[in-house]
Amino acid sequence: MTTNRQLCIGLSLSTTWMKGNGWRHTDSGVENLYSSDFYVQLAKMAEEAKLDFIFRPDTLFLNKEVLGNSPGFGSLDPTLLLTSIARETNRIGLVTTASTTFNSPYTVARQLQSLQWISNGRAGWNIVTSIEGAGNFGDDPMPSSPERYQKASEFTDIVRKLWDSYPNESLVINRSTGQYADKEMVSPINHSGDFFSVEGPLNVPAHKSGTIPLFQAGASESGRNFAASVADAIFAATPDMASGIELRDDLRRRAKKHGRHPSAIRVLPGLYFFLANTREEALELHRKAHAHLSQEHRYASVKSILGMDISTLPLDQSITVDMLPDQNQSVRSRTHADLLRRLITRQQPTVEELLSRPEVVGSAHWVVVGTVEDALNEITEWFETGAADGFIALPGGSKTSMELFFSELMPMLVERGLFRSEYTGSTLREHLGIT
Ligand SMILES: Cc1cc2nc3c(=O)[nH]c(=O)nc-3n(C[C@H](O)[C@H](O)[C@H](O)COP(=O)(O)O)c2cc1C
Repeated sequence: MTTNRQLCIGLSLSTTWMKGNGWRHTDSGVENLYSSDFYVQLAKMAEEAKLDFIFRPDTLFLNKEVLGNSPGFGSLDPTLLLTSIARETNRIGLVTTASTTFNSPYTVARQLQSLQWISNGRAGWNIVTSIEGAGNFGDDPMPSSPERYQKASEFTDIVRKLWDSYPNESLVINRSTGQYADKEMVSPINHSGDFFSVEGPLNVPAHKSGTIPLFQAGASESGRNFAASVADAIFAATPDMASGIELRDDLRRRAKKHGRHPSAIRVLPGLYFFLANTREEALELHRKAHAHLSQEHRYASVKSILGMDISTLPLDQSITVDMLPDQNQSVRSRTHADLLRRLITRQQPTVEELLSRPEVVGSAHWVVVGTVEDALNEITEWFETGAADGFIALPGGSKTSMELFFSELMPMLVERGLFRSEYTGSTLREHLGIT
């Protein structure tokens, strides 16, 4: 099949190859987790491969329990980190994460617009509503997912209004007349809503490259509606092609209902890949990365995702739809719960099968375990079947996966005509083809 459509590809900076026992590999770079030089190096590799963007997910809590044997979710502040990377790169997009549940819209609008100036138009905002961390913000217990999205919607609306409140065109900068800005073009937003009151205008003018692209992650009913109304790209958790097709079709339909072009929303699943020179080696890499997970951990994971205790069931018992808990019960993330509910509805897996699923052992993402050719063929199939518009690379197991991604897989995607060989633009909007 020939197509002019091109993949949209980002690299996650969440050091996925250090998950599980991966950090113990001699070459994992774990000592550098809190050094910006380490990420600058990764960003430069990604820029060399002409990727659309690097992407920094983020959480706002530390799970002390896991620190005994893993780095957990500790991380540098993503926007500060990407600002340091902005100074060392020239073309690649820089997508930071900021929670709408725990921040103030004015601060986020200002930080993002600052990153946009510092990077010369390469900033992107991954809008998350967070799944934990309420205790750090005097907000315990965590609001439900629909409530968080109501707040996210108002928050995002304010941020966009703030970005528009001080337009780039208002900057006159005429030394002879002494006029700095056309102040008639700069206006307060006077927002007063259910969650926030914000006067405005923002104290940073908009950058000339245009509005900052919005990313979103979360695919519940409220998450999808929210995404369809504003997002340019979705970081999706779609473990199989069928869930990718369903999500992408649905988001495109919803985008249309919001008066947007269906292609205005790009579905980018996380692609968690374990690459090696042979399939056997790749399988071994995948097995080793998850070998540390006890049965107890796996049972606890099912309980936390689905709200269902399967620890007393025999391993060979099939799990069927009628055993699932009430769909309306509160869960941490509807997206992750729905993925497992759909799997159970479709396949009635045994307890043993469920406990070994990637969604349970640590990732709800599309997982490829194999050679570079295996990954190439899967990516091509997902793209051409309409299950994805691209992907966010999550290298797994060891740094070898990432090295093979850059040295072999990316050149093959270029050769197949599925990805650019040179940048044609210099802003994130241009890379994503946002007009
Ligand atoms: C693929 C994916 C990635 C996410 N990444 C983050 C993240 O980096 N930081 C965060 O605080 N929340 C993250 N979330 C949580 C979402 O922002 C959201 O709070 C959660 O999924 C609940 O929404 P839902 O019910 O629509 O799934 C992520 C969710 C998904 C599905």
